[in-house]
Amino acid sequence: MRMRKKPNLIPRMDRCAAVQIKDPKGFKGKWLSENRGYSGLYLEIGCGKGRFTADTAVTIPDKLLVAIERVPDAMVVGMERVTDAGIENVRFIDADAAELREIFADSEVSRIYINFCDPWVKKRHAKRRLTSGGFLDIYRHILAPNGEIHFKTDNTGLFDFSLEEFARSGYVVSEVTRDLHINGPVGIMTDYEKKFYEQGIRINRCVATLTLEAKAVRGSYEEK
Ligand SMILES: C[S@@+](CC[C@H](N)C(=O)[O-])C[C@H]1O[C@@H](n2cnc3c(N)ncnc32)[C@H](O)[C@@H]1O
Repeated sequence: MRMRKKPNLIPRMDRCAAVQIKDPKGFKGKWLSENRGYSGLYLEIGCGKGRFTADTAVTIPDKLLVAIERVPDAMVVGMERVTDAGIENVRFIDADAAELREIFADSEVSRIYINFCDPWVKKRHAKRRLTSGGFLDIYRHILAPNGEIHFKTDNTGLFDFSLEEFARSGYVVSEVTRDLHINGPVGIMTDYEKKFYEQGIRINRCVATLTLEAKAVRGSYEEK
């Protein structure tokens, strides 16, 4: 997502400071003990402007939803949505998904949402895709056994690639659909998804579950 740097970014973020974690590495292993009252930790990677973040959070008040985004000009819109709606169970992190193992301890996360991540269509950029083997290895560490990755994309090539990568990394894939909204809107839409839906573009979705066996296989990509 390319966005112009907005001159008023800092005051906008300051107004919403209560929902941003500026030192996320300091929370590693302590996300739930430092935020008492939540029964689980969910993570959204690449939340963009946070429509899905805000709308999902209100449906899961007993979970802490952490949203990570590396473009603060997009993330601030999500921070404003959550702040203005008075939603309490969301925290935003301005960081790169490559750093996730420094932010979350082993098995600390029970669900990951990846919605409409950049497809990086050139083969030489495949490692940058958030569903490529290297990232799936990172998720294997931070996800609890039987933890889930909920994945949506409009890009068929990326979806095919992701299904292969999930299987290669030992995740069990379920709920596969190549036209999620064929019979009308299903679930909570992201900002991108809303636009695609209005244009009649088909949405692919699946859930990838980290089985106990797959959790036990460590560092397969790191060692290659
Ligand atoms: C195409 S946008 C989709 C945004 C949102 N999920 C939606 O569906 O509306 C992809 C988002 O992922 C973010 N992103 C891509 N790679 C990332 C990474 N490695 N770490 C954190 N955020 C990332 C981008 O900055 C961008 O905001």
